[in-house]
Amino acid sequence: MKTAQTIDGVRKLLAEARQAGRSIGFVPTMGALHEGHWSLIDQARRECDDVVVSIFVNPLQFSPAEDFDRYPETLDADLAGCEERVADVVFCPSVREMYGEEAGLLTRVHVSRLADRLCGQSRQNHFDGVCTVVAKLFGIVGPNRAFFGEKDFQQLLIVRQMVADLSIPVEIVACPTCREADGLAISSRNRFLSPEQRKAATSFYESLSGAVESVRAGRRDAAQLTASIRHQIETSGVDRIDYVEIVDATNLEPLPEIDKPARICVAAHFGETRLIDNVAVDAP
Ligand code: PAF
Repeated sequence: MKTAQTIDGVRKLLAEARQAGRSIGFVPTMGALHEGHWSLIDQARRECDDVVVSIFVNPLQFSPAEDFDRYPETLDADLAGCEERVADVVFCPSVREMYGEEAGLLTRVHVSRLADRLCGQSRQNHFDGVCTVVAKLFGIVGPNRAFFGEKDFQQLLIVRQMVADLSIPVEIVACPTCREADGLAISSRNRFLSPEQRKAATSFYESLSGAVESVRAGRRDAAQLTASIRHQIETSGVDRIDYVEIVDATNLEPLPEIDKPARICVAAHFGETRLIDNVAVDAP
């Protein structure tokens, strides 16, 4: 496995693979790698000739009030894990390498409508930061396929829209959410939960699974379903619910009734830690 800290360096490492016509699979990450990331890397390993992982905590996607400064950094363990998973190249640039001197980057990528909903309501400019760095990483790495987890379902749809709109020649591959034994979606932020918050957070998946069962049993009304999810999360000891919404799985528009493929999406704060989750539901 090779590592590169510079844009030129990673381009040089990948030139040979590209010339030889090998397919490049790319897993962009912010480090603090866990089972969710390993499953993306494993899928890239199975489907592509060469696997590139990027590790970059992107300041552009955090607002000043958010947890950029305490975002976990575990570079040595991340590199060891990537080696074990047989990644070919790990790109871990500095902020200066990616964005130059202060105010060096004047461009932002904004995907309207999709980025303004759900998490976009409370995390202003978050998805502009994500799209800007992902577009830049795609320009640097030039992957054939890029692997994103369905846990960040809104991010997945936005990145798909961005590559379609900007004709970026990469296939976006959606990978299933990895969960703990009790159903909690695996996230780098779970490590910040106290034992009580960790217990309360299980209400997320329990309430979503309950809703999936209700839909299977024939319940369609979004207001009733979201009310019962809210009730279950609220009684678990959550600090604040950000949203519980049922949306069209293709465009994130709210659905009053589940009459087509939909996603039930939730976000809430457990202490200082904000968690998100979602599940797929469909009309019978
Ligand atoms: O999902 C993430 O970890 C980040 O948003 C991403 C895609 C690596 C961009 O910084």
